[in-house]
Amino acid sequence: MEIDCKELILKAFQGRENAYAPYSGFKVGAAVLTEDGNIYTGCNIENASYGATNCAERTAIFKAVSEGHENVKAIAIVGEKNKYTYPCGICRQVMAEFALPDIKIILAKNEREYIVKTLDEILPGAFTKKDLL
Ligand code: THU
Repeated sequence: MEIDCKELILKAFQGRENAYAPYSGFKVGAAVLTEDGNIYTGCNIENASYGATNCAERTAIFKAVSEGHENVKAIAIVGEKNKYTYPCGICRQVMAEFALPDIKIILAKNEREYIVKTLDEILPGAFTKKDLL
């Protein structure tokens, strides 16, 4: 199954519409494509106790996992200001847990301008379940 980057980016923008970011004003959206072809969207959800904030990427991944889809084939991420928004360190670690080996991480300004990264590029030497064996 080919990955439709444009579709996933548009879904990420849809996810961003529900962003709850009254403190930073920085809205982020994400869309996850699972191995079996399902798409889950997510947004950042902030909190008056700032540390309780959840990023868009984790919202989308946790929605997928909570619905029984643990294998992520691709994730699209959109932020603000027509710039590429790279996932934070915690989200990279969560991606490492649920990513298929060839996961595509799509960072998008819009549906025409995007770059695709591998997990190894943005999280080299990741600590994963294999390190616990
Ligand atoms: N944020 C995300 O949702 N994803 C990222 O990868 C970077 C940061 C959110 C968290 C917070 O609500 C806002 O962006 C500013 O840090």
